[in-house]
Amino acid sequence: MRKFFGFIVMLTFIFAMVACGADNSDEEQTGEEDTGGEETTAESEETEEAAAEGEDGGGELEIFSWWTGAGEEDGLNALIELFEEQHPDIAVENAAVAGGAGTNAKAVLATRMQGNDPPSTFQVHAGEELNQSWVAADKMEPLNDFYEEEELMDKFPEELIDMVSQDGDIYSVPVNIHRGNVIFYNMSVFEENGLEPPTTFDEFLNVAEELDAAEITPLALGDKEAWTATQVFENVLLGALGPEDYQALWNGDISFDDERVVEAAETFKQILGYVNEDHASRNWQDSAQLVSEGEAAMINMGDWAKGYFSNDLDMEVNEDFGYFAFPETTEDFMVISDTFGLPSGVENEEDVKKFLSVLGSVEGQDTFNPLKGSIPARVDSDESKYDEYGVDTIEDFREANLAPSLAHGSAASEGYLTKANQAVNIFVTQGDVERLLESLEAALAEE
Ligand code: GAL
Repeated sequence: MRKFFGFIVMLTFIFAMVACGADNSDEEQTGEEDTGGEETTAESEETEEAAAEGEDGGGELEIFSWWTGAGEEDGLNALIELFEEQHPDIAVENAAVAGGAGTNAKAVLATRMQGNDPPSTFQVHAGEELNQSWVAADKMEPLNDFYEEEELMDKFPEELIDMVSQDGDIYSVPVNIHRGNVIFYNMSVFEENGLEPPTTFDEFLNVAEELDAAEITPLALGDKEAWTATQVFENVLLGALGPEDYQALWNGDISFDDERVVEAAETFKQILGYVNEDHASRNWQDSAQLVSEGEAAMINMGDWAKGYFSNDLDMEVNEDFGYFAFPETTEDFMVISDTFGLPSGVENEEDVKKFLSVLGSVEGQDTFNPLKGSIPARVDSDESKYDEYGVDTIEDFREANLAPSLAHGSAASEGYLTKANQAVNIFVTQGDVERLLESLEAALAEE
């Protein structure tokens, strides 16, 4: 509990900083005009007005996430539209807060949860982010009856239900599965330089060397928000350790001075030698743009980038951009699952359940995921709704060994992730392997 409150205090501080700079964050995010973001702002203003008039807002369904702006919001908007068609009597407020991987939203959420002012429902990653932050603090309602009524028990992979459960109780409904260990690449750049997708670290470094010689940035990185670099590192670790030992590392069962871990950090350092110089001033969308423009050849990004390439940058999958598994992880799948639950104390519990029902339905998932770039969490979705990337990924997911993402809240607590992001961020500029591994180990010992 003490750790939880320490976490809250830290997030409250971050929130204060976010609040100061939040106004133009959407523009900063995308560098593009963003009508979706403007709508969100307008809706927030309406809610503020309602609050000022003394209304409790209990009748509105407030959906909280970080899906705003380019590459993020299309799936959510379509899901809300579907919900509104089915439930025209329920007013929805899209309360999204911009910032990749919840950089800002998580802080806002923590403040609200602490003040017993939860949104009707909120985006939360399956795994430790849900369990250690909110279930452990007794802030979520079990959904076992809901799962029974909606006949959901056999509609999601068992491993996924386990990730959203604690002591036999289920606490959220997964809307999707994103893959984190994927590299997207500019197909013309590869073709013009006679390159093939690499499958091992050595092959990757050779490809990177050739691109570098041709004066093309081998790997785009935008670590203005530190999680993007953490994501690259976790994929190197997955390749070096395999899914079981990768998980054992975050559980504290494998030490950070294991020689495979040291080697992985060295490999990560080599990879960082091939990124764009201005990486620290770009966010994930800005760095993905380098690939679409052909200035960079590859990017390791969760497949929300596939949504961004297709929907926002009008690129065709397997024509303009291709994809391959992060080196040495072809058989593995880094799982990132966005879920929504029922916070304790909300007034419109039945409406929340109606939303969870739409979000958990085949139609809901097949409306949301083709736009989001993710695959459905449900096992019985309609594959004809997905493009080649989606169909391939659905198949890979069925056969692959699964691993939970650290960078996206599943493998370890939110407090640990914050420290890991800091350690990786320092490493990106200093390149001190020993310091990185010591910091990661020390942070785990504090858990
Ligand atoms: C992840 C989230 C994805 C996507 C991404 C970038 O944490 O699971 O749905 O939004 O962040 O913001």
